[in-house]
Amino acid sequence: MHQAIITASQLICLQSREERSEAGGPLLMPAIIENGTVLLDDDRIAWVGPTTARESVPRSNDVIDARDKTVLPGFVDCHTHLIFAGTREDEFEQRLAGRTYQEIAALGGGINATVQRVRAATKGELKRLARRRLDRLLQFGVTTVEVKSGYGLTLADELKCLEVIAELNAEGPLELVPTFLGAHAVPPEYRNNREGYLRLILDEMLPEIARCRLAGFCDVFCETGVFDLKESERILARARDLGFQLKVHADELTPLGGAELAARLGAVSADHLLCISDAGIDALAESGTVATLLPGTAFFLGLPYAPARKLIECGVRVALASDFNPGTCPTENLPLVGAMACTQMKMLPAEAIAALTIGGAAALGCSDRIGSLEVGKQADLIICDVPDYRQIFYHFGVNHVWRVIKRGRVVYAA
Ligand code: NIG
Ligand code: FE
Repeated sequence: MHQAIITASQLICLQSREERSEAGGPLLMPAIIENGTVLLDDDRIAWVGPTTARESVPRSNDVIDARDKTVLPGFVDCHTHLIFAGTREDEFEQRLAGRTYQEIAALGGGINATVQRVRAATKGELKRLARRRLDRLLQFGVTTVEVKSGYGLTLADELKCLEVIAELNAEGPLELVPTFLGAHAVPPEYRNNREGYLRLILDEMLPEIARCRLAGFCDVFCETGVFDLKESERILARARDLGFQLKVHADELTPLGGAELAARLGAVSADHLLCISDAGIDALAESGTVATLLPGTAFFLGLPYAPARKLIECGVRVALASDFNPGTCPTENLPLVGAMACTQMKMLPAEAIAALTIGGAAALGCSDRIGSLEVGKQADLIICDVPDYRQIFYHFGVNHVWRVIKRGRVVYAA
């Protein structure tokens, strides 16, 4: 089927191949086309350019008039923990009263509080809860979403969560990219036997999940009091040997050196990075590992933000994502996260758009297929009811998404 989106106030195209500025940093040129048209051929982008350069749009086309609107690639939310049951507003209140995230976790709250709820939940319940969250993400313009396991922490419960992800992906319209995060916390039954839990991950969970092909990525919460550098490396190295691509929750709450580890192991992304060191920044620039920044988490925990400017200026490729989870960032509003990136980390609107689209795609190793409006790419795009893309972050906290198109099909209309 042929479709056309015509007379858009702006087309924000972006490009998969990154150009470098003279200083070595990535040159973010979103390639803005004014009064633009996009032609789709089924699930592919067939043509992108100024409306005037296209003599006529063939009559058979389904035409969407995007006058006064902005067309951009669908957002790629490359870091979420959206398979969970229950909520943790009690901890939110405790933190406001002065307790830290780590103190609450040590008292039996935190990740393990959600683990209990997930273990007690059926697959059907988890799926119904996740479906509502995916629907909301879609309304905020997300067309591809990475989803982590990590609240099951037994082989059966991790498989249960990964199966929910696989089923939701098969049902569409959102595309889900599954990540195994068995190393999210040491569950209570292994509190006095860390090595036992490591062996369970290394000898049973990783091989079985690789065998069932339920996750292409493996992630580790590399953090003081969670998994240290040595433990993280054991898990990630084994995962790599089994064919997983790697991600690391790195330098989120303390400067442990997770970014350097991610770079050394050739991880696709290092995520969070609130406490990344200068050496960590250099290591990511050197290895080409994507820095996935999650400012919603710093906002919600009341912590200092990741050094986005320094990362960009040192030539590190940056992605922005929600970190959607019940403990540290319960929101599906990814454009609001982009506004936080602008006001709190001083990213320019163009940089934030790039980080939410092609940057997110790079963090999932699929920037050749999604993340930009380029001929031949998958037709994942959104139309926002603003005439200038900067208004997406400037007029913050509200939803400007007017249409969402996934693989060439309109899957959401405001
Ligand atoms: O990304 N850092 C580890 N995991 C989540 C928090 C999960 C939770 O508290 O439930 C995060 O912030
Ligand atoms: Fe996270």
